[in-house]
Amino acid sequence: MNKLIIAIDGPAASGKSTAAKLLAQKLGYVYLDTGAMYRACALAAKRTGISMDDEGALVELMKDIQLEISFTASENQIFLACEDVSAEIRKPEISMLASSISRLKIVRERMVELQRRMGKEGGVILDGRDIGTVVFPDAELKFFLEAPVELRAQRRYQELLSKGQSAIYDEVISEMKQRDLQDSSRALAPLVAAEDAIIIDTADYGIDALAEELYRHYTQRIEGQKSIRLAPYSGFCFGVRRALQLALDAAKEYGKIYTLGELIHNPQVVEEMANKGVIAAKDTAALQEAIVVIRSHGISKEQLEQLSAGNNTIIDATCPYVKRTHELIQKANEEGYPVIILGDPRHPEVIGIKSYGDENTTLYEPGQELPALLGKKYCVISQTTQKLENLEALVNMLLPLCNDLKIYNSICLATRQRQNASEALAQESDLMIIVGGKNSSNTKMLANLCRKYCECLHIETEDELEESLFKNKWRIGIAAGASTPENRIIAVYNKILKINGSTRFASKLDDIPLFKEESC
Ligand code: CDP
Repeated sequence: MNKLIIAIDGPAASGKSTAAKLLAQKLGYVYLDTGAMYRACALAAKRTGISMDDEGALVELMKDIQLEISFTASENQIFLACEDVSAEIRKPEISMLASSISRLKIVRERMVELQRRMGKEGGVILDGRDIGTVVFPDAELKFFLEAPVELRAQRRYQELLSKGQSAIYDEVISEMKQRDLQDSSRALAPLVAAEDAIIIDTADYGIDALAEELYRHYTQRIEGQKSIRLAPYSGFCFGVRRALQLALDAAKEYGKIYTLGELIHNPQVVEEMANKGVIAAKDTAALQEAIVVIRSHGISKEQLEQLSAGNNTIIDATCPYVKRTHELIQKANEEGYPVIILGDPRHPEVIGIKSYGDENTTLYEPGQELPALLGKKYCVISQTTQKLENLEALVNMLLPLCNDLKIYNSICLATRQRQNASEALAQESDLMIIVGGKNSSNTKMLANLCRKYCECLHIETEDELEESLFKNKWRIGIAAGASTPENRIIAVYNKILKINGSTRFASKLDDIPLFKEESC
């Protein structure tokens, strides 16, 4: 079997060496501790009394240094001029010196050359700071391990005590912070995660669980298997499903019916519906004595009056959660609260909600400056598909300005569940595919949320997927907006399988592996 080069990078005491050794033993690989090599250089400089600022003397030292390393899966022994210095280089004072000496070009060049020579045949796990970025940028599998500095310092402190060395926690943590900063801010090969590294917070794992997690990634990679998982709560929400059903039933009964605007923000579904007699009308002007279905976004009060004046038969498919916001805004006004609506001012749902409010109703679009307020008493109502963090941000801006603030968290449960599930999946994916109309506000929102964690593509159909998008992407997540039909999600999943050479496809949504629900 092809033996890989596995890179494990990360800051001090993030668990690299323990995890690397366990994984190497499991795979029958060798383990190379590259930090030990920089430590040995630092020890050599210290012994000869060379200051870390004396670059000329350090260059001379590096020319003659006799450094050897013997490495197996579980142990690295390091020799300076044939003397085993494996224990001595672990002393705390050497850590900082190693960080200082490793900034120098000559030191890095020599060590990287040695590391490349020792690792080039594969079957090796190297841990360090720059393995995935500089030493082996083409390594087949890269990890970047991290953990909060307090935890890492605690681990190092315990490690020193267990070796019988004296240590003070406060000193350990302050030295660690200084070294992390120096390692990550240096000009040459700074400590950063490679773009294609799998980032793992080791605070979440015990030693064995961490090794298992690395092994899981390894098996996926070696078997060329990609994990493709669907976020729970993807696709049609209750309100959309209900509106589609009402429209289809009506079309069946009356032959041809109208919706005011497109029934849902999904061009493919709208086209299918048109073929079944559900026609999207642009405005109320053309609608006279027709059967009109009000879509799940709802419509404005004025539009409703125009439709009634035109003697139309109205079938109201406004989502009950949107309807509730119409009631809430009226209630707030009756109680004397001017209302700020959080949402996209161009979205029909928001236009609809606003029409039920009084003349003091204000719109607030996320990311904008807060408009001038009329007083210190306000009520906030949200578009049902907003992100919770946008609502939190608005409330935080209003709190210092108001002494009577009423907040209706009108973000619907389905939206919250879908967003939480997609966000959690994005955190464990290399690529997220978000399926839904490019004009769908909730789908765009989903893509923006996931983009914080990994590369993210917002597509309408599977035709937009091609092989190059999946290169070096092993963990693929799929999520879909509230207006995305099941068959579209299945088609996207099958296209990903096809691109990746699979011959078994899904025929129903249940065939797609679901991302574990407990974390959503
Ligand atoms: O054991 P710990 O994680 O504290 O450190 P180490 O891996 O033994 O590395 C000691 C120092 O060597 C680090 O702080 C880095 O400055 C340097 N180093 C490096 O520059 N590049 C590497 N590939 C490995 C270590």
